[in-house]
Amino acid sequence: MGMDVAQIQSMALVRDLVHGRWKAQALSLILQLRIPQLLEDGPRTLVSLADQLEVSEDGLGRLMNVMVALGLFARDDQGRLTNNDASALLTADNPASLRLDALHTLSPSMGICWDNLEYAVRHGTSGFEHAMGQSVFSYLQDRPAEADVTHAFQAQVTRWNVPGLLATGFFPETGKVVDVGGGNGTTLVELLRQRPGLQGILYDLPDAVERARTIVAAAGLTDRIELREGDFFATVPSGGNLYLLSHVLHDWPDGRAVEIVRAVGAAMGPDSELLVVELAKPKDGGSWVMAYLDLLVLVGLGGRERTADEYRGLVERAGLSVIREAEAGPKDFSLGIVLARCPRDVPTTPRSPDQASRR
Ligand SMILES: C[S@@+](CC[C@H](N)C(=O)[O-])C[C@H]1O[C@@H](n2cnc3c(N)ncnc32)[C@H](O)[C@@H]1O
Repeated sequence: MGMDVAQIQSMALVRDLVHGRWKAQALSLILQLRIPQLLEDGPRTLVSLADQLEVSEDGLGRLMNVMVALGLFARDDQGRLTNNDASALLTADNPASLRLDALHTLSPSMGICWDNLEYAVRHGTSGFEHAMGQSVFSYLQDRPAEADVTHAFQAQVTRWNVPGLLATGFFPETGKVVDVGGGNGTTLVELLRQRPGLQGILYDLPDAVERARTIVAAAGLTDRIELREGDFFATVPSGGNLYLLSHVLHDWPDGRAVEIVRAVGAAMGPDSELLVVELAKPKDGGSWVMAYLDLLVLVGLGGRERTADEYRGLVERAGLSVIREAEAGPKDFSLGIVLARCPRDVPTTPRSPDQASRR
C-alpha cells in the first residue's frame, strides 16, 4: 500500500524533530570552526580547509558531506567547497545575517536551558536557575564572550523597533529617556540619533553597561547618554521624562515583572511617562515562533510572553495608570506598546479650579 502525501509530510515532520538536535550540533561545530567565513573569499578544497583548521581531513569531509546534503554549502564543478545563499547567511557581512541568532541559540547557556526543559515544564519555573543556582543574567556577568553575543543578538532584533516606536508619537522631541534594562545601548543610540533633542540614561547590569560604553563612544554620543549600572529591582535612576522598558518584562514571571514596574514608578516624577514595549502575543496564540519564545523564556528565565492586555494588567497592578496604547509592526510579531503614568498625576476625580491652577 503506497503512502499518501499527508503521510509523507507527517513522516518528514517527525524525522525533522527527531534529528533536529543533532543537525544543530553539527551546525554549531561549523560555526565554531568559522567555515562560512573561511569560504567568504571563494571556493576551497577540503584538504586546504583541514590543513588550516588542523583537523582530520576525513572527519571534516564527513561533516561537510552532511551539510552539503542538507543544503548548507555547495560544491563547485571541481568539487571544492563554496558558500551558497544559505551558508552566506552565517557570515557577519551579510545584511540579512543570521550569524548572531545562530551563535546565541547554540550558545552554552542556551544548552543549559534546554537540558533542563523537563524541570521547567514540571514546575513552571526556570530550568536554568534550577541547574545553575543563578539567573542567566548573573551567569553572563562572568562570561564576556557569551555576553557579547547575547547582547549583540538582542540589540540586532530590537534596533529595528525604533522607527515603529517613533511613529507612535509617544516620544517627546526633547527631554531625557531612561532605558531601563537597555542592554548594550544600541537601541538608545538609534533613538537619540533620530531625535537630536533627546538626552538619555542607559541603565543595566555591569556587563551590559560595559558594552554600551564602547557603542555609545563609537556613536559619538557620550555627551548625551549617561551610563548607569544597577539592579532594576532595587532602584531606577530618577530624572527621566520618559522611562523605557523594552523587552524586559517578558523575561520575568508576573510578580517580578510588577516589582520592576513599581521600581520605575518610584523613580518617576509627576510628569514622567513609562513606555512598555514587548512583542504582543496574539490572542489566538499566534505562530509557532511565538509559542517557542514563550517556552524559551520559561526554561531560561521563568518568564512568559503575554498579550497586550496582559502587559496593561501588569502595569496597572504596579499602581500606574495606562494612558494610551499602540501596536506597531507586522501581525504575529506586532509590538504591544503601553504608555503609562503614575496616578498622582492622573486624578480620578476632577480637581477644583483652585487646585488645577496651582499645577
Ligand atoms: C531581553 S534584554 C532587553 C534589552 C533591551 N532593552 C532591548 O530591548 O533590546 C533584558 C535586559 O535586562 C537586563 N537586566 C536583567 N536583570 C537586570 C537587573 N536586575 N537590573 C538591571 N538590568 C537587568 C539584562 O542585562 C538585559 O540587558
